[in-house]
Amino acid sequence: MIKFIGETKFIEFEKVEKLVEEKSKEYSDYLGWTDEFNSTFELDKIYEYAQEIRDKYKLIVICGAGGSYTGSRAIIESVQGELRDEPKIIFLGHDLSSRYLRTALKLIDNYEACIIVISKSGETLETNIGYQLVREGFKKKYTDVSDRIYVITNCNSGYLYDISKKEGYKRLTVPKNVGGRYSLHTSVGLLPMAAAGINIDEFLRGIRDYKRKLVTFDNPSVQYALSRKEFYDNGKNKEFLVSYDPSLKFLQEWYVQLFGESEGKSDNVIFPTYLTNTTDLHSIGQYIQEGPGDLFETVLFVNENKIDLEINLEEFSNDYAGLNKYSLNNINKVVMEATKVAHSKNNIDTLMIEINSIDEYNLGQLVYFFMYACFVSSVLFGANPFNQPGVEQYKQIYKKLLR
Ligand code: PA5
Repeated sequence: MIKFIGETKFIEFEKVEKLVEEKSKEYSDYLGWTDEFNSTFELDKIYEYAQEIRDKYKLIVICGAGGSYTGSRAIIESVQGELRDEPKIIFLGHDLSSRYLRTALKLIDNYEACIIVISKSGETLETNIGYQLVREGFKKKYTDVSDRIYVITNCNSGYLYDISKKEGYKRLTVPKNVGGRYSLHTSVGLLPMAAAGINIDEFLRGIRDYKRKLVTFDNPSVQYALSRKEFYDNGKNKEFLVSYDPSLKFLQEWYVQLFGESEGKSDNVIFPTYLTNTTDLHSIGQYIQEGPGDLFETVLFVNENKIDLEINLEEFSNDYAGLNKYSLNNINKVVMEATKVAHSKNNIDTLMIEINSIDEYNLGQLVYFFMYACFVSSVLFGANPFNQPGVEQYKQIYKKLLR
């Protein structure tokens, strides 16, 4: 279950609904992520490949950039985090650091490994370099290299499509009408997740259940989008997505990628970033408490954490006399409430998004909540949520410089 808590005035609600309706028609070719078919049409192959990977390999390399990997990473790291035993997972293909890649390649040397390469265009430099380096590593070690390579790309063009056809790699499809950052519930996210041991049926059930809430326009995603816009109109141009659990770090990174690339197309927009408390209360918390105050916070809070520890507070100080059996989850919650009150003294407002627990079902709800909110919010800010023309600029320049 997901709950959004915010206080906004919702002026001109009907006008916004009409605008979103109009934009839904204009962007209909990019709204494939709202169509359940794109999550289900390859499910049989996804189950089959995931089982094969889990049976045969001890290490999975997930190779992709931007929207092609942030989603699956968000779910895998949130649900399993440091607790994951096997298979080991490495994410690469999203940077060009020799140091990072060499370390990853060394790890590959030590385990029975496979790679899932994900790129809608099949042309992303970071991803193709990651794939090439891993493939060459495989060639030195294995005779069945092609069997260990799974490709997820579009269905007719690009380097990865061509090479996967030539080499006979197993291939899944990125649907034409789904953009990278809206694709984690298609093969793009589902194969890596299932291979890692995530229950994708529960994840998809969460998405399906959340979608039912969108039948009426006055739903949590729209309320959140309108709240953000209202804050922006009142001079708050930064949003800190705050969690009180480090397991959610990659979910927060996914949110930054989603909103940053969807909305960041003019001067008049919210800068999306994130904090992990209470860790960051000992650093950037100072800036929030006494800095310019031109920001708002959205707290992502987990209500029913299944894991809890008992703390004897009394041991630390007389201030805590009698508090010798305190739930750590409750301490975390009390500190969250205290922080809200403290930050409000610097005129910082806090929105709340509550989920019941960090599991596949709740995270399915949460990601769809954000994706729909991002669509509506981008429309409110006058941005096309589905393109990223700015991203192309550095690519054009480096292509010339590399020669
Ligand atoms: O969200 C997006 O569309 C982008 O971040 C892309 O996912 C990213 O640029 C990678 O593109 P591709 O999947 O073509 O490799």
